[in-house]
Amino acid sequence: MQIYLDSANIQHIQQAASWGIIDGVTTNPSLLAKEDPKVDVKQRILEIHKMVGGHLSVEVISTNTDGMLREAEEIRSWFPEATIKIPMLPAGLAAVKELSKKNIPTNVTLIFSPIQALAANNAGATYVSLFLGRLDDIGMNSASILEEVANIWYVHNFESKIIAASIRNPLHIIQSAKVGAHIATVPFDVLKKSLMHPLTDQGIDIFLKDYDRMQTEIQKIITE
Ligand code: G3P
Repeated sequence: MQIYLDSANIQHIQQAASWGIIDGVTTNPSLLAKEDPKVDVKQRILEIHKMVGGHLSVEVISTNTDGMLREAEEIRSWFPEATIKIPMLPAGLAAVKELSKKNIPTNVTLIFSPIQALAANNAGATYVSLFLGRLDDIGMNSASILEEVANIWYVHNFESKIIAASIRNPLHIIQSAKVGAHIATVPFDVLKKSLMHPLTDQGIDIFLKDYDRMQTEIQKIITE
């Protein structure tokens, strides 16, 4: 399962990219506004693209098909590999259909149910983004909904990729990998937290102390 960073923060993206474990970045208007409400979106997106080079999803803000298609064209003029993130609306599905005819990759976002995921796939989406955390927030079981989506994908051998999104904790990442999501898009703090383990820190501490003890013994022998 690939990992994307769900972020518009340059420092975070730079740091996660330096660890060699991310294959792309997903953004949305909320993530961009969180960094700086006055941010120049085009400039920020191009900065991220230059830094990571892999997958980069950029979201449209229109809610009608023509507006989405116009925005998609504009975003693709910034850099031609852009994946266009389209909201899960009937108008969005129509836009996905048009974009897929031109082989333009799309990521259908704000998916909360297997039927929405199926519809996005059938419209020609390249990626379908199922929001786990927001499902859990309203008392739904995101793990079992993701499993249903994954089962449908493997029964039908769909080409589109499942992105587990709205990831809030390390368990969401593991659940996504176990049921066969192709990608998990993860916020920086969750990714960093996921890499930590108290036994790893404790182990390093013990190794370093033992190494120091060895050095002290060697010094003793040399000076005797
Ligand atoms: O990838 C979608 C994500 O940004 C939404 O996450 O935590 O706002 O539900 P969240």
